[in-house]
Amino acid sequence: MTKRVFIKTYGCQMNVYDSARMVELVAPLGYAPSDSPRGADLVILNTCHIREKAAEKVFSELGGIRHLKRAKERRGERMIVAVAGCVAQAEGEEIRRRASFVDLVFGPQTYHRLPEMIARATRAAGDGVLDTSFPAEPKFDHLPAARAAGEVSAPLTIQEGCDKFCTFCVVPYTRGAEFSRPAAQVIAEAERLAEGGARELTLLGQNVNAYHGAAPANGPNGGGEWGLGDLLRALARIPGLDRLRYTTSHPRDVDDGLVAAHRDVPELMPFLHLPVQSGSDRVLAAMNRRHTADDYRRTISRLRRARPDLALSSDFIVGYPGESDLDFRATLDLVVEMGFAQAYSFKYSPRPGTPAAAEKQLAEPVKAARLAELQALLQQQQGAFNAAAVGTVMPVLFEKPGRHEGQLVGRSPYLQPVHADAAAAHIGDILPVHIVGVRGNSLTGAIDDGRGREAAR
Ligand code: 5AD
Ligand code: SF4
Repeated sequence: MTKRVFIKTYGCQMNVYDSARMVELVAPLGYAPSDSPRGADLVILNTCHIREKAAEKVFSELGGIRHLKRAKERRGERMIVAVAGCVAQAEGEEIRRRASFVDLVFGPQTYHRLPEMIARATRAAGDGVLDTSFPAEPKFDHLPAARAAGEVSAPLTIQEGCDKFCTFCVVPYTRGAEFSRPAAQVIAEAERLAEGGARELTLLGQNVNAYHGAAPANGPNGGGEWGLGDLLRALARIPGLDRLRYTTSHPRDVDDGLVAAHRDVPELMPFLHLPVQSGSDRVLAAMNRRHTADDYRRTISRLRRARPDLALSSDFIVGYPGESDLDFRATLDLVVEMGFAQAYSFKYSPRPGTPAAAEKQLAEPVKAARLAELQALLQQQQGAFNAAAVGTVMPVLFEKPGRHEGQLVGRSPYLQPVHADAAAAHIGDILPVHIVGVRGNSLTGAIDDGRGREAAR
């Protein structure tokens, strides 16, 4: 009888990638994916620690899982419950204490040992398994070759962890030290994804442009290292891969090689998520960001000189401890000056164990008012950016069926969702689309029939 595995994924794209690998790891043990925890034989919560009250949300989800597990036990069956990801890494002991029915707790660095952990949990009645170590041997060496999942746009993790230690952030503690996969391993995985039909790859890493992987032995700089720019050039040569993206980057790690890749590699899409967090040098220094607002301005102008149509996205934190009204105005000024196609913004919220959590906190209403003001400005910029697309023709990579019959959804080069009438057979095609309108944060358009329209790349 086939067993069922249910995975609930929280948070970032790295977790989505990790969850997909976990499904592949347990498949040989006879687990087929299920889209509900009800009746599942293995339930995995792949957690994220970035958001506020992350641990509490996991505990509340576990409450429901506990009932399902008990119900299964009453039928004389077994359910293995696992908590994975960054909350597991940070709160492993607490989970074992407060939710003793959880069988496995493991961090992002050890999920390659999942089959072994499941075997141990099946044998150990009740003791459970806790594995939140940072193993010396990188997990990527132990993962089965990722199957080509047949996705049109596929994520590919190339780097993990972070050594930056921004004072608000848990990542250096939960994901551990920076690690880059060897370029040859990344290229091999990219080739398999392309063979499986991927036309777009998004290279993932907590600090992806700090990438410094071992160079392939027989290529340029063999025996040395490649930066992200070198890797992008190599991936662009893989047949079928027409679009490349990467996320998330740090302004400090935009080196000349990466700027040159934006100039020379047409497959590298003209859209960049480059978090700045604040426009105030005082706050940036307090955050230990290791760059100033002017450094960010200079980096963006280097990139825009290399790729004039580059559109920007960013992350912002408002209400960081000690942020004055003047500091906040500096953030608004930077936003006006740069112009963002879209952005994410957050109120600062303390993460236990990080330096900023020990500082005196700003009043909640101050944070809320600043966030509202910043979001209004960012929303206005996003609206203007989307409105400017109306009347143009853009190459759209169609990814999946839309909400209505006969409609598909794809992405523009700038990552805008685009809805257009098209046959399902066009999934995986890049077609010129005449943009006719904006709906929310998406665009609507019609596939361009080529009559009297400008040609799309
Ligand atoms: N409070 C608010 N926002 C945070 N982020 C990370 N940690 C915190 C925190 N403690 C935001 C940053 C980061 C994004 C992924 O989440 O803007 O770039
Ligand atoms: Fe966190 Fe990014 Fe700073 Fe690293 S660079 S500590 S991941 S915010």
